[in-house]
Amino acid sequence: MSQSVAVSRDGAVAIITIDNPPVNALSFHVREPLMKAFETLRDDATVEAIVLACAGRTFVAGADITEFGKPMQRPDLRDLIATLEKIEKPTVAAIHGTALGGGLELALGCHSRVADKAAKLGLPEVKLGLLPGAGGTIRLPYLIGPQKALKIIVSGTPITAGEALEGGLVDAIAENDLVAVAVEFARARAAEGKKFSAVRDRREKIEKADLEAFDRQAAELAKKARGLEAPVACAQSVRNAITLPFDEALASERDFFVKLVSGDQSRAQRHLFFAEREAAKVAGVGKDIAPREIRRAGVIGAGTMGGGIAMSFANGGIPVTLLEMNREALDRGIATIEKNYAISVSRGSMTEEAKARRMALFSTTTDYADLADCDIVVEAVFEDMSVKQDVFGKLDAAAKPGTILASNTSYLDVDQIAAFTGRPQDVVGTHFFSPANVMKLLEIVRGRKTAPDVLATLLSLSKRIGKVPVVVGVCPGFVGNRMLGARSDETENLLLEGAAPNQVDKAFTDFGWPMGPFQMYDLAGLDIGWRNRKATGKAAVISDPLCEQGRFGQKTGRGFYLYENGSRTPTPDPDVERLIADKARERGIERRDISAEEITERTLYPMINEGAKILEEGIAARASDIDIVWVNGYGFPIGKGGPMFFAELEGIKKIVERLEYWHGRTGKDAFKPAALLKKLAASGGSFSEKTAQAA
Ligand code: 3HC
Ligand code: NAI
Repeated sequence: MSQSVAVSRDGAVAIITIDNPPVNALSFHVREPLMKAFETLRDDATVEAIVLACAGRTFVAGADITEFGKPMQRPDLRDLIATLEKIEKPTVAAIHGTALGGGLELALGCHSRVADKAAKLGLPEVKLGLLPGAGGTIRLPYLIGPQKALKIIVSGTPITAGEALEGGLVDAIAENDLVAVAVEFARARAAEGKKFSAVRDRREKIEKADLEAFDRQAAELAKKARGLEAPVACAQSVRNAITLPFDEALASERDFFVKLVSGDQSRAQRHLFFAEREAAKVAGVGKDIAPREIRRAGVIGAGTMGGGIAMSFANGGIPVTLLEMNREALDRGIATIEKNYAISVSRGSMTEEAKARRMALFSTTTDYADLADCDIVVEAVFEDMSVKQDVFGKLDAAAKPGTILASNTSYLDVDQIAAFTGRPQDVVGTHFFSPANVMKLLEIVRGRKTAPDVLATLLSLSKRIGKVPVVVGVCPGFVGNRMLGARSDETENLLLEGAAPNQVDKAFTDFGWPMGPFQMYDLAGLDIGWRNRKATGKAAVISDPLCEQGRFGQKTGRGFYLYENGSRTPTPDPDVERLIADKARERGIERRDISAEEITERTLYPMINEGAKILEEGIAARASDIDIVWVNGYGFPIGKGGPMFFAELEGIKKIVERLEYWHGRTGKDAFKPAALLKKLAASGGSFSEKTAQAA
């Protein structure tokens, strides 16, 4: 037997152990010996029952995603499960860690499932742009009922062992010594004789299914799919479990899987899965670099960002000291935090007790001396270098040696901030995104002198507080905001040249963004950018006059759109249309029809161009890091894999041609193709080759 699959015996019970680190994925070198084990044990008359278990940190976490898109080597997972399911002696899966995707599907091929009390079970394929392709959309509904199954499959979120027991997905929970419990369970089943049946033969929940209720639930989910094919396919396949004979439903599931796995959306989502893991690998920060211990965090500034950042720490169980200029500001900050948790309680996603525990993690102060026991302090005060200088000077004097001094600045030079202290090696940028307690992205800005163990600490801390980290270099706006800046001029120009705000926004939402730029400006408040522009001597043709009229967006009921009677639904406003037309006339611009394609070319392509410059300069280590920034920080559609992945899907050559066209027409630098893009267009190469060369 190969090393990745071993068989042992406990009396008449055979125990198959899969051992394929790190997550026991079902690679070919597992499937082949696993099939042999099933066949051998099936035919061995001395074996009365079989337990299927895993070595290492988890049960099988799924099919081997690296094999997708390559020719499948038989036996495939479906063959395995079909063979397992037909074995006429009790088969029991012993589940610890996470049974995910193909792993759970394999377990569904057993007659019974015993789970460790800390185990989690789920079908996360939808997050990879897929549906469970080895019977999960059919067997799960058979076992727990179609509506419950649909919820699990479309959310992709694993459930706990306790929830699985309640729903009938597992048959028993092991408090400890999982395999021993599973062996006893199997032995007892064998002793009972033929009192076990394959999942496919348990039709009770399917026969009782309420198809109308199911269709209503599926329609609700389809509305939320926002152009993603996988959730819709999941729902259709689960429906087949109700309406078609088992084998036909299974065959149809396979067809869906084959179609999805070769499609661009799944390629994009698989790219993001690996990109997120790559982003955590940072040059000069090897596994040998031990992170510093973080027991308490400090946050300076309890405004929009500081409050959210403090909540993120508390959500990760880390006590936080909040420092503000005065008591009133602290009270306001804490009240907002409490209100946010109260909303979670009212929505049912948090209990009163959990809220009280969370709130108990906060302490407040106006005195820097109270930050002395913090292991990390994040500054989130006004975006003004002289204020940052004052704060970092005081922080340097108060913090103990080794404390990480972090700035949440959006644009400012982290090296300059580091120079305000006597310990630039401890200074780093931690750029959270608003709302900071919700948004997943954390841009970690590596200064010239930032110590590797500071980065190692932030990478592991990100995991604790549920953030997706990307390490970036110092430049104005870092990766995300710098690229956003590359498109901002063009959005107003499109209006002047003939597009309406809702037309631009529609092009964005049709592309898959959660909202368009004008809806976003209205939501965030137009006054913020206006004040910044006034302070820096800049102007915006449409936004400035809107602000002069007191149109700050949703908060004033009027911005680029109208929001009547407190509504959050944007309604086009003829006054804004008139203003745009007037401004165009003043500038002698002849307005014309603007296509959705042009909107995409003039907003997204300059961003991609800026992304290429960011790569050239080494501000981002890989194109995939940029994709992670955009998907997690700005809602770039996951089905398109991020701007750089999308660029390759579109064809870099095409993008360069169109950038050159717009550069010729407008003369703007934002459209002048970056050298890297031109090189890749000429060679037919990809961004990943550039990264490989640099590594
Ligand atoms: N295939 C191939 N590699 C995988 C993998 C998989 N299914 N799951 C994880 N890995 C790799 C990761 O890329 C990573 O590699 P690296 O160390 O070289 O970067 C390594 O395993 C460890 O993974 P994580 O860093 O994510 O480890 P964690 O402990 O944080 O998380 C996990 C473990 C919860 C299992 C997480 O890895 C995970 O969610 N994996 C994916 C699960 C999944 O999507 N399964 C469904 C696959 S599709 C399928 O089964 C199709 C079927 O229906 C036919
Ligand atoms: P804010 O104005 O909501 O909050 C700033 C807070 O800092 C205020 O409560 C203020 O009282 C406090 N403060 C100011 N000077 C202080 C000092 N010397 N000592 C102690 N407290 C002081 O600002 P916001 O939006 O939270 O921004 C904070 C930082 O985060 C800025 O650097 C900003 O660029 C950055 N940022 C903002 C984002 C956003 O969407 N608002 C997103 C990402 C970063």
